[in-house]
Amino acid sequence: MRTLITNIATLYQTETTDSQRWVAKGSDMKNLPHINHAWLLIEDGLIADFGEMNTLNSFQFEKEIDAKQGIVLPAWCDSHTHLVFAHSREHEFVDRINGLTYEDIAKRGGGILHSAKRLNETSESELFDNALVRLEEVKQTGTGAIEIKSGYGLQVEGELKMLRVIKRLKETSELTIKATFLAGHAYPLEYRENHEGFIKLIIDEMLPNVANEGLAEYIDVFCEKGFFSVDETDRILEAGVKFGLKPKVHANQLYNSGGVQVGVKHNAISVDHLETMDEDEINCLLSSNTMPTLLPGAAFFLAMHYQPARKLIDAGLPVALATDFNPGSCPSSNMNFIISLACTQMKMTPEEAINACTINGAAAMEVNDKLGSICKGKQANVIITKPIPSLAYLPYSFGSNQISSVMIHGK
Ligand code: NIG
Ligand code: FE
Repeated sequence: MRTLITNIATLYQTETTDSQRWVAKGSDMKNLPHINHAWLLIEDGLIADFGEMNTLNSFQFEKEIDAKQGIVLPAWCDSHTHLVFAHSREHEFVDRINGLTYEDIAKRGGGILHSAKRLNETSESELFDNALVRLEEVKQTGTGAIEIKSGYGLQVEGELKMLRVIKRLKETSELTIKATFLAGHAYPLEYRENHEGFIKLIIDEMLPNVANEGLAEYIDVFCEKGFFSVDETDRILEAGVKFGLKPKVHANQLYNSGGVQVGVKHNAISVDHLETMDEDEINCLLSSNTMPTLLPGAAFFLAMHYQPARKLIDAGLPVALATDFNPGSCPSSNMNFIISLACTQMKMTPEEAINACTINGAAAMEVNDKLGSICKGKQANVIITKPIPSLAYLPYSFGSNQISSVMIHGK
């Protein structure tokens, strides 16, 4: 099946197979290769060819899509979400308006523990049905690949239930989905004074089952004061690696937690959040292949300071952007809003933000060989926008939808 998209005002993030970028870092993040007045040919779900309209030959194709002077980009790659959850938490949102902090709420047993209680009361099929509805919205807003974490089970059965839901989503949805076992998210109340017991439960009971059933690619820990210490994170990541899971870390959201360093020590694919970053963390990342992943939606929603994107990029690092979609700290799965936040609050240019949400997001999920750019042989996951005056208009017009259609795997 061949589909030809014509009359594209500008086709962005184009590359040839020999000029392919696996990540965009430092000053190169400003570069977003493109072709004006373009066409794009898709065959059997893959990008077959592209070029300028005046080079369009008489192709054989079954279907033509007129982009009507919209721009075309690779679909977003959202490399950090908690999309499977039982219930929203707007009561805590109101509590925070009235003066409590995210930490206060966690300390009194709300937050993640509240989500865990609800999750353990909800059936696998109900979780699946709700998650599928959310995934549909994710797709409509232009996301074609997504990472989804467990972490609201906090018990063997609950964690396995979440990961089985993610597995079913992978089998059902046309989106590319990566699964992360968020082993250390919070200590359940009964283990607050017995960290050793909970870590034993993770390592001896959860991990072998997760690995046996092939339920996850990654292992993650919330390394933070009041959550998991560096030592605890270290042990959990090490155990995960033994079971073939690659590390990711929730690091430096509230404090300089040491999460970046322990992640890099274990060759983490990414360290995520990074609201608080000093020179030590930046130097540590410069010596690694770990992708710094910024989650400005969480900073926005918790009214915290934003991640120092400029410092990281100007130091020569790559950055990825992701939503962190979850019921507590970022109840939005909309990558378009994340791009606007990155530009307005973190002073990333539109080109940098789009690199962060495409090729670098793909790298943070290890799908950059298949997704994240317009390159022959890559999967045809693309966004077609309405006719808009320029690329910058996307983040500029925050809150209004500029997407006309989204194609996943050529459909
Ligand atoms: O990435 N920081 C830890 N975990 C999530 C929040 C989870 C929650 O509040 O439910 C995050 O922000
Ligand atoms: Fe998160």
